[in-house]
Amino acid sequence: MSVSDYELVQAWRQVLDLCRLEAGQTVTLLTSADTNRQTLRCAILAVRDRGAIANRLDLQPTNGGVSLSRDPLAYVGTTPLTGNRAAVEMLKASDLVLDLMTLLFSAEQHEILAAGGRILLAVEPPEVLVRMVPTAEDRTRVLAASARLRTARSLHVTSAAGTDVSFALGDYPMLEEYGFVDAPGHWDHWPSGFLATWSNEGSARGTIVLAPGDILLPQKSYVTAPVTLRLDGGYVRSIEGGYEADHLRDYMESFGDPEVFAVSHIGWGLQRRAHWSVLGFYDREASIGMDARACAGNFLWSTGPNNEAGGTRDTACHIDIPMRNCTVKLDGVAVVRDGRLVEG
Ligand SMILES: [Fe+2]
Repeated sequence: MSVSDYELVQAWRQVLDLCRLEAGQTVTLLTSADTNRQTLRCAILAVRDRGAIANRLDLQPTNGGVSLSRDPLAYVGTTPLTGNRAAVEMLKASDLVLDLMTLLFSAEQHEILAAGGRILLAVEPPEVLVRMVPTAEDRTRVLAASARLRTARSLHVTSAAGTDVSFALGDYPMLEEYGFVDAPGHWDHWPSGFLATWSNEGSARGTIVLAPGDILLPQKSYVTAPVTLRLDGGYVRSIEGGYEADHLRDYMESFGDPEVFAVSHIGWGLQRRAHWSVLGFYDREASIGMDARACAGNFLWSTGPNNEAGGTRDTACHIDIPMRNCTVKLDGVAVVRDGRLVEG
């Protein structure tokens, strides 16, 4: 059900507090054809309430004619900022960018962040934003987990369904998502609350068995029968199972790019206000599935690009796969056991 403008303005106020937005600073709200009007309206009210300047930059949608899905994460790489120098300079000149259109995986985004910009993505429905408005404690939990992941050199995942896969770590940075941007050069996503990194090139190896209830994104569907993926040399080498395996393989092959089968970010969910069951209640175009990605105790792995981590792979296909009931070990020590967080 809907939330009131009052609730959403209050949520934005909390987010802007955590972002340490100051009076007189410039906020640019990045919008496009699918931007939620209530989210935009309430964000502007909260920005103005703090005495900050609210600019709106409305950009043309891209990739609609080539993507097989309407999900904004289904076709990545080319964005409305590609070749759009005037827009890039406006964003670089802003103290804070509120991305209400989904700007991801682009060289231009890197340029804005490298210039000290801050970008907060917020595109989930207003009621999801309100339910998962970030807190300082979210940041503390993600950074504590990150301190452990940062020093680990191997990540090993097993499950009763048959998953047994390992990844070497250490070559790529951390992806710490806690829902607000409190430092120059930081990108984040409200709502979130998970941690990830990228496995060393060529190191992903083993078997992943998706069990009924595991989730495919951007398909935004629960798996109903086992799907077995064999990984070797950092790539998915085979996908076997029922029609869901066929659907996944067919979709990935449609990009005509062997790099779509590379393993991308890997990590686990830390957000207790995110819930595995939420995806079942929403139409596919209503959300991008952040409950599934951030749900505490999931194992979230993905395929496709690594350019947002400083790698060179910029393939357009990105699949996120949150799995339940896995045990995740860092250098042999469990951080998730049978789908539940191991705290401390
Ligand atoms: Fe992802």
